[in-house]
Amino acid sequence: MNAMTADNLRSAYGGESQAHMRYRIWGDKAEKDGFPTVARLFMATSDAEEVHATLHFKALKDEKGSFSVTSGGGFGYGSTSENLQGAIDGELFEVEQMYPAYIAVAEMQNEKAAISAMRYAIEAEKVHAELFTKAKEAVDQGRDLEAETVLLCPVCGFISLTGEEDNCPLCNAKKELFKEY
Ligand SMILES: [Fe+2]
Ligand SMILES: [Fe+2]
Repeated sequence: MNAMTADNLRSAYGGESQAHMRYRIWGDKAEKDGFPTVARLFMATSDAEEVHATLHFKALKDEKGSFSVTSGGGFGYGSTSENLQGAIDGELFEVEQMYPAYIAVAEMQNEKAAISAMRYAIEAEKVHAELFTKAKEAVDQGRDLEAETVLLCPVCGFISLTGEEDNCPLCNAKKELFKEY
């Protein structure tokens, strides 16, 4: 794999790994703050970021060895409203800046495995940003997020709050594979 794409993919792996942890912590806080459905959304999204980290790690399968990895990651342990804002900011950074730039480099270098892993990620992150925004609107009005269900596509990281999809709208995985939170 070309060095620049490998660096970018390791950085994205680092960012996704941190998001995975951060959302578990913020999910526990949402539960404590009395927003159980927001907590479920954080836990499902935490696992979605694990899916993305795993895709990136596997795309890097031939890049063996030890590397210093630099990646952006939000910090702060505040109210659930503040934590949701942190989550929205992180998702939007990935959607608007990080992945478009990394995908452009990978396309230039014709790195198919990297392109495919990062396209899955960017499409799912758009959905995450939307759902966290919806959650923040509810929390800022003093209520929990309203959702029929909280479902995760374990193939690409898509999340549904309705369960009305037949298959995953992003990767076409069968709905029977979806995990409920
Ligand atoms: Fe995300
Ligand atoms: Fe999917």
